[in-house]
Amino acid sequence: MNDSLFSDFDFSSLDSPNFKEDSVREDLIMPVLKELGYSSQSENKIVRSKKVRHPFVTVGSNELPLTNFPDYLLEVDGKYAWVIDAKAPNEDIKTGKNVEQAYFYAIHPEIRVPIYALCNGREFIAFDIHGETLICFSLSEIEKYWHKLQDLLSPPAFDRTQKKIEANKNEAEFDYLSRKPLEELKKVRKRGARRHFGVHGYFTKQSWDVVQSYIRNFTKPNDTVLDPFGGSGITTVEALMTNRKGIHIDINPLSVFLVKSLLIPTNLQKLQESFEEIKKEYLENVPKTPDDYEKTLDKYPYPKGNVLPKGSDVATIEHLFSRRQLSQLAYLKHLIRKVESADIKNTLLLIFSTTITKINRTYHHSTYAGENAGDCSAFRYYRFRIAPEEVNLDTFSTFEGKFKNIIAAKKEIAPVINQQTVRNAQIYKGTATKLEKIENESVDYIYTDPPYGKKIPYLDLSIMWNAWLDLEVSENDYQLEAIEGGGHNKTRKDYSNLLAESIREMYRVLKFDRWMSFVFAHKDPEYWHLIVDTAEKSGFEYVSAVKQSNGQTSFKKRQNPFTVLSGQLIINFKKVRNPKSIMKADLGADITDLIIQAIEGVIAKNTGATLEEINDELIIKGLELGFLDILSRQYQDITPFLLANFDYDKETEKYLLKKNTKFRSQIPIELRIRFYLESMLRRFAREGKATHFSDIILEIMPLLKNGVTPDDQTILSVLEQIADKVGEDSWRLKESGQGNLFDLA
Ligand SMILES: C[S@@+](CC[C@H](N)C(=O)[O-])C[C@H]1O[C@@H](n2cnc3c(N)ncnc32)[C@H](O)[C@@H]1O
Repeated sequence: MNDSLFSDFDFSSLDSPNFKEDSVREDLIMPVLKELGYSSQSENKIVRSKKVRHPFVTVGSNELPLTNFPDYLLEVDGKYAWVIDAKAPNEDIKTGKNVEQAYFYAIHPEIRVPIYALCNGREFIAFDIHGETLICFSLSEIEKYWHKLQDLLSPPAFDRTQKKIEANKNEAEFDYLSRKPLEELKKVRKRGARRHFGVHGYFTKQSWDVVQSYIRNFTKPNDTVLDPFGGSGITTVEALMTNRKGIHIDINPLSVFLVKSLLIPTNLQKLQESFEEIKKEYLENVPKTPDDYEKTLDKYPYPKGNVLPKGSDVATIEHLFSRRQLSQLAYLKHLIRKVESADIKNTLLLIFSTTITKINRTYHHSTYAGENAGDCSAFRYYRFRIAPEEVNLDTFSTFEGKFKNIIAAKKEIAPVINQQTVRNAQIYKGTATKLEKIENESVDYIYTDPPYGKKIPYLDLSIMWNAWLDLEVSENDYQLEAIEGGGHNKTRKDYSNLLAESIREMYRVLKFDRWMSFVFAHKDPEYWHLIVDTAEKSGFEYVSAVKQSNGQTSFKKRQNPFTVLSGQLIINFKKVRNPKSIMKADLGADITDLIIQAIEGVIAKNTGATLEEINDELIIKGLELGFLDILSRQYQDITPFLLANFDYDKETEKYLLKKNTKFRSQIPIELRIRFYLESMLRRFAREGKATHFSDIILEIMPLLKNGVTPDDQTILSVLEQIADKVGEDSWRLKESGQGNLFDLA
């Protein structure tokens, strides 16, 4: 490599706002391409800004194709080989829309190349068409990576690279069983994708990047991913965005409508035209006076008389709206219904539906972010609560704002989800308890987030949208809805049975040697026990439970941090032919000491612990050490126990040891060591991690920071009793060490 390639370049200049995308392109990417052996004239040519037509999006009244330009397209021996896109230094080039854009160039019918690369001046990254990262480095360290880069992308190497990618695709079997469960993803960007954020609210939404990471981790392209409690459709949308197939099922017709309308390929030019026509007609005839409101309401249909769930501030649906809101929505819907094309009409109805979320009397605006930022009470408080402060948002401006959001969402997905690929999605209304349309052993991965007991009655609360959208909910749907309580007064037993049935169905449809990730956020251990127990009885093997933040705290949690959990755990199971069951310890009736021990453990580790941290720890320890069933019988809600035994600091929202008390060392130190060692070794074994003594010490010491701190020797002697040394320095539980936790007591 030419030593002077960037030796004169001052990388701190990338921090200047004047260093933009074009400088990255000309000052940094171009020299790399030349050094690799490309030029403007040869067989190995640099093609600048090749125009490609967006296959599904047009602009202007003459339906001119929307054109995009990859910054450089590289030819090897006169044939297109790879593309590279320049981005400004502050842009993300590893995930998100920029990567999707570059991928779109690579798969475009007029280009079709096996590699796409991006560079933002700071970093250079290249992916193969199947989404694998081929190389990634800091540009300031290019000399270290030069040989690898040359081996990959220089013209003489390219033929070999291409063959390797093909061979990888055909030969390298994806080894499902050796996949490792993910650790907690710390940086969650819930608002980072236009295809989800700002499209349509729903009661609880997974963060798309967490879901996408799980899909990428447990599947390969073309695999089938199922979510039988699909909600707003994050799983299926992300499955399609990563070139997998997706099955979305939900009992709520609103959920099915949302996902279908978002994914339906739409001619955006025609959508724009229809929107303009509606706007013109609406603004000419919009009802403006109380007299107009009543005349409009006499003329056009609107939902009326539907009884709202108990706990609502008003009795029937029409009272959720002022007469102005009701009449303007009725007129707007009338105009949308006149549109002929089904895809345009559906998309407009989606925009209408998300407009309803703001144009009603339960819309609570944000006190700090202004009138336009806020949410309706069904999503915020899980009941119909009339806002104490009336907000009079303009109906059409709200509709127009949502129109822009949905155009942005559709543009974002169009390169990947379009006429050709949308058939990879199956979206239908149905019940997770009977997956009739899905054959035995046909699904490669399940990511699902079922209802959490009585927190949210989805069908009751969706009435505001379902009624406007003319979507029917039958008595049978209510019977099948997996919740506790709600308008149909479902019992815990109903809920448990429905959840258990759905787990059995998931087992049936999943292939062997595949994974299921089950998101759950209930604070009652009984349900955790139910899930793991049913899953084990159905044949699943429990692998791990991971705490995963979902990107934002719910309003309910902010209001009442004391009793509502904001965290969630993702439990990973696999379906294997000889599943191992997790240990059932013979603990006797009183597990108070173990509970106190586990709680003191987190308090010591984190210097004070939040309700979520304590709950997560108890659930995970309970699951893995087998005391969850006793925990669930004795402590349905851990809060009273916490209040009785620990102090709560309102400011930090953490539980602490009671003033002037010490950790209670009722469990002998050796037993405590054993308690933690067993749980840790078992977890490491399941996750396929090596257990070096130094890692064990690092993990265990903070948990024992309690009264007398043991030395390494004490830990080693317990370890030797319960585990065997394998290889140089790795430890595995003895078979006989798996029985009774209290052998030592
Ligand atoms: C926690 S939400 C899922 C949210 C989703 N993960 C998201 O990110 O938007 C649970 C969903 O389960 C649905 N549901 C409840 N009972 C069901 C059943 N028996 N079959 C299918 N879906 C059901 C509810 O309508 C709700 O949409």
